[in-house]
Amino acid sequence: MPATVVIGGQWGDEGKGRVVDFFARNCTMIARYSAGSNAGHTIVNGLGRFALHLVPAGIFYADKTCIMGNGMVIAPQGLIDEISMLESRGVDMSRLKISDRAQLVMPWHPVIDRLDEAMRGENAIGTTGTGTGPAFIDKAARLGFRMIDLVSPDPFESDEFDRKLKWVLDYKNLVITQLYDGEPLAFEAIRDQFHYYSDRLRQYITDTSILVQDAHERGEQILLEGAQGALLDLDSGTYPYVTSSSPASVAAGACIGVGIGPTAIRRVVGVYKAYQTRVGNGPMPTELFDQDGSALREHGVDRGAGEYGATTGRPRRTGWFDGVLARSTARQNGVTSVALTRLDVLSQFKSIKVCVAYELNGQRIDALPASLHGMQSVQPIYEELPGWGDEVTEARSMSDLPQRAREYVRRIEQLIGAPIDMISVGPEREQAIVTRDIFGQALG
Ligand code: GDP
Ligand code: IMO
Ligand code: MG
Repeated sequence: MPATVVIGGQWGDEGKGRVVDFFARNCTMIARYSAGSNAGHTIVNGLGRFALHLVPAGIFYADKTCIMGNGMVIAPQGLIDEISMLESRGVDMSRLKISDRAQLVMPWHPVIDRLDEAMRGENAIGTTGTGTGPAFIDKAARLGFRMIDLVSPDPFESDEFDRKLKWVLDYKNLVITQLYDGEPLAFEAIRDQFHYYSDRLRQYITDTSILVQDAHERGEQILLEGAQGALLDLDSGTYPYVTSSSPASVAAGACIGVGIGPTAIRRVVGVYKAYQTRVGNGPMPTELFDQDGSALREHGVDRGAGEYGATTGRPRRTGWFDGVLARSTARQNGVTSVALTRLDVLSQFKSIKVCVAYELNGQRIDALPASLHGMQSVQPIYEELPGWGDEVTEARSMSDLPQRAREYVRRIEQLIGAPIDMISVGPEREQAIVTRDIFGQALG
């Protein structure tokens, strides 16, 4: 059976957690393939409201295997806290498997993340401060610790862990003190912490690529959960204001991040918000600084459902739907199905704008330039559509939607250039309209 990838089509926070929680019912295995606790995936279901940073969003189904792939960077204490939180709320965690090749976020990574941002000053990226970027930098620098380092035969008995920690920590302390003028970290405390992590996490760590490959060969449906969004991707995003994940936060990274070949992937679900948000710094052509922008951000804020980061609590920047960027990410990711989220948030507007092209130096263009100056200089060309006024949170089929809401959805579909197969009209699991059963229907 082909695997299905779920990616974010914008700057993250499109509702990937919500969409994975919805589609997981059709699959036997859900595997996250990239990033770390910079991600915050919100799921609202019968057990309550959850913001998951590391554990795949499929964990709420008792019969699904959940994989944390080799493409992830994992903060062990954060993971232990997340596992404990889920257990305390009645979720069975025995189905969680962690790749032995996944990288570890080490104690120096969040320290360096924050010191580096301070050093950049006005050029700061606006990272989540979780150490995710520095952990990926060390992966590429071949300085990383991996899950296997916690469990390879007796790493603590044999001094294997201590020897590696000693030289890497000496190196990192030099960087912290000499480059950033920060405080060095102590060896013993880290060693003892990681001994505990080894005991606590050992039961979950295995070669997960074999599990995914076996499930694929058995013909099972596998859902590959992406993090961030395509516009935060290191290669295709709004560089340098991107995240540092490798494999990338695009669909093509999913194979590398779980250890399967590209031929296994046949469907790519692109999750798009019905408007645009971004958290952190960097260009955002359709950003709004007016009343409409705050209306997008504050909708549902009294229920804890406004546009505030699930990881850092920062207010998200808001703007109208950017059709130029959406079309570009759909093409770069080979999106076969769109899940359009938060349509209900637009019910409050009398008229709604969508960006259909940009203007740059008096010319109409339909792609974002590569240069930072170009990205910051484009002016959106808008089309204005009438609002629909009525609430849509109870809609469960297209015919339940007001005519103008259907027209909005169809216009977004044209702009993206891929079919909208699911429309989310609220954060809860069943607040959705499915217009095509993507699992029931063979593709191409
Ligand atoms: P992710 O990082 O892509 O998983 O998205 P986040 O969880 O960071 O942010 C999405 C937010 O939108 C969460 O608070 C979700 O509960 C919420 N959400 C998802 N779909 C809908 C929807 O259709 N309507 C509303 N109102 N909220 C939604
Ligand atoms: P999910 O999976 C939104 C942003 C940060 C910052 C930039 C780099 O919830 O959609 P990093 O800490 O990764 O080095 O920060 O990327 N960012 C996200 N924005 N959603 C995310 O994940 C994000 N992960 C990183 O705000 O601008
Ligand atoms: Mg998020």
